[in-house]
Amino acid sequence: MCGIVAYVGEKDAYSLILKGLKRLEYRGYDSSGIALLEDGELNVYKKRGKVADLESQHAGKALKSTIGIGHTRWATHGEPNDVNAHPHYSNNRKLAIIHNGIIENYASIKQNLIKKGHVFQSETDTEVLIHFIEDIQHEAGNSLEDAVKLALREVVGAYAIVVMSVDHPGQLIAARKGSPLVIGIGENEFFFASDATPIIEYTKDVVYLDDYEVALVRDGKLTIQNLDNTETIPYIQTLEMELETIEKGGYDHFMIKEIFEQPRSIADSMRGRLNASEGHLQLGGLSGYMDDLVKAERIVIVGCGTSWHAGLVAEYLFEELARVNVEVEYASEFRYRNPVITEKDVVIAISQSGETADTLAAIELAKSKGATIFGICNVVGSSIARASHAGAYTHAGPEIGVASTKAFTAQVTVLTLMAIAVAKKKGTISDETYRHLLYEMENIPALVEKVFENATKIKEIAYIYKDSNNCLYLGRGFNYPVALEGALKLKEISYIHAEGYPAAEMKHGPIALIDEDMPVVFLATKDSSYEKIVSNIQEVKARKGRVIAIVTEGDTLIPSMVDFVIEVPEALEILTPLLSVIPLQLLSYYVAVMRGRNVDQPRNLAKSVTVE
Ligand code: G6P
Repeated sequence: MCGIVAYVGEKDAYSLILKGLKRLEYRGYDSSGIALLEDGELNVYKKRGKVADLESQHAGKALKSTIGIGHTRWATHGEPNDVNAHPHYSNNRKLAIIHNGIIENYASIKQNLIKKGHVFQSETDTEVLIHFIEDIQHEAGNSLEDAVKLALREVVGAYAIVVMSVDHPGQLIAARKGSPLVIGIGENEFFFASDATPIIEYTKDVVYLDDYEVALVRDGKLTIQNLDNTETIPYIQTLEMELETIEKGGYDHFMIKEIFEQPRSIADSMRGRLNASEGHLQLGGLSGYMDDLVKAERIVIVGCGTSWHAGLVAEYLFEELARVNVEVEYASEFRYRNPVITEKDVVIAISQSGETADTLAAIELAKSKGATIFGICNVVGSSIARASHAGAYTHAGPEIGVASTKAFTAQVTVLTLMAIAVAKKKGTISDETYRHLLYEMENIPALVEKVFENATKIKEIAYIYKDSNNCLYLGRGFNYPVALEGALKLKEISYIHAEGYPAAEMKHGPIALIDEDMPVVFLATKDSSYEKIVSNIQEVKARKGRVIAIVTEGDTLIPSMVDFVIEVPEALEILTPLLSVIPLQLLSYYVAVMRGRNVDQPRNLAKSVTVE
């Protein structure tokens, strides 16, 4: 949550930072701001609303500077308004800060500072931090970088910060703990950002800052030290991201672009890992740790949101193929529950961003109890990827739409490959089944492509149901997590109340909701639960519910019973989620667009939840 971007170099900082903020806007979008050093003055410009609102407020003004810091906010402390927007000044207005994260002990620090005469403008924890830094700087004549370090040693919480000072033109100080920060190194210029998207068009050389590290750019040089002053040599990595992957490329929204990218992103998740004709399946990041997976007495999967749904699919996959006990946990519950975890457990953490605070805390907890941690992340170099013992990147490419789509199918793809590899090694599947599974996996991108042939029909169905107030999603077995994911997609972006349920549970409650105004989406593909799902559909129809069914191509029974069907190609039952989720993504997208919603940036949500 919250996007930060900073620049020092020879280019025009204002326009560069503004562009960077637009790229990071998916991380938070209730207010934004920029601080610039202009002719010896430290000026802060900020505004409630989108980055475009900030831009239009200053349109036509000549904001000229070659150093600046910018922020796009997802409010935690204090409502979204102009005053609470970042950057924040220190008490003497000589320092400015941008911050992503939460300073948990800000209230006690603030009280002390108020006693010393500090006056605060905003309700934010961030303003307290920059006042605190100023206070430490002046108290014992500390240098600014020492004051930053001393302050950060006192604070409890998470942060990625960048600080600039009117007294040190050309200098930026950045630090992180628990919130991501990447530094781009150009020619005579440096960039700081929450992720690499604002940086890639300028340089591919980046350094990912680690927790408790402080980066200082002064006189065109970067140095990195720990909070205890030990210097570390910056490890420069080359970005593999391409610019076009973070642009809309002719689509109206990132979400629809990302939905239609899935044949490619699923193929990318398998690239170099799977070759069916050679019977080859290997996930490089797992080698060395494969035995832990094979010997695991239990696999615990942690994640949040859509990633948790991918975890539920994985539960079915690992149990079915590798015959291992699997538990899937909301990371936020797991971390506070004193869970029973031993060194015999394997924990799989699933996270698109690799930065979700609860998931990160869950794996730190499991690690402290001796478990082996596998990270399934999309963002390369992310905190969860780095905190894991081993793992596999999903390689779906940047996902910018807040509602997760291609990241989900990439997660399920990688988890399927993992389950097949473990099953093969354990001998819980025959060689023949193994070969067959590899061929079927290889064919998935082509089948996803076929689902798109129904896009127009799905749009028509969306038009009919766009004014609904509620919607129920029901599925069984492998399609149960898909029902949850379908409901989540609809509520996230259209704001229609939607619930997903295992279809058999319907009669224990949700059936009371069914009447002629209640759309019910059934995941009803031809699988081992088919007859049971048919009965559930009849139960809904008997109560006049309006049924949209996702069915297997060529099904003739269900189409005769329901209001609308959307076909998906036939596939192995265990691979069905990769296909049946696609129409649900499209349905949510079209409904949300027809309702005039901001599909890519739905209200109150953020792409990367780096606070608890
Ligand atoms: C937020 C996003 C969701 C995402 C969830 C978990 O709520 O809006 O789309 O599924 O976080 O994020 P992660 O990056 O850990 O997968």
